[in-house]
Amino acid sequence: MNLENWQKKLATKLSPGRYNHSLGVMDLARKLAHNYQIDEHLPAVAGLLHDVAREIPPQEALSLANFYQLPILEVEQRVPILLHGKIGAEMLKREWEINNAEILEAVNLHVTGAPKMNIISQIILIADFAEPGRSLLCSRIARKLAFVDRFTALNYIFDQKIKYILNSGFLIHPLTIEARNQLIMKSSFLN
Ligand SMILES: [Fe+2]
Ligand SMILES: [Fe+2]
Repeated sequence: MNLENWQKKLATKLSPGRYNHSLGVMDLARKLAHNYQIDEHLPAVAGLLHDVAREIPPQEALSLANFYQLPILEVEQRVPILLHGKIGAEMLKREWEINNAEILEAVNLHVTGAPKMNIISQIILIADFAEPGRSLLCSRIARKLAFVDRFTALNYIFDQKIKYILNSGFLIHPLTIEARNQLIMKSSFLN
């Protein structure tokens, strides 16, 4: 299936707002791929499809994760929205015949991040936060940073995400903490 057909299929799965967000992530992912001098195809597909499972209601998401026999952490059990990357990747594999490991990793990890992420995953995490449909100042700053240095952008994005989670009193996913620590250790190694 090509990108155009995937777009049509995705439009039947998401609300118009979320579909537009997905197009925004695809577009920014492409631009970032050019900026980082890698091929745009995988980032474009991962960007388009990253939220394929985002609108599945929480109870259904848990049932689906069980049906797929995905490992479920206690924080995910309590906040099933955290599972939408993991479920999305599994769904793309099973129902969309997408088997590219980098695309599946990027979809899986875009919600939480992880200490080790391939460049496609990094691009999708940035583009999800920074696509132009997101008008918050922090998204605009991240968008600018992403074209200068992607690790600086990722550091900034994880800080913003964690601050938001703390201010809201939400549970924090362990992978998000690990991802942020890894970024700090990596940047102090470079300095
Ligand atoms: Fe998402
Ligand atoms: Fe998203």
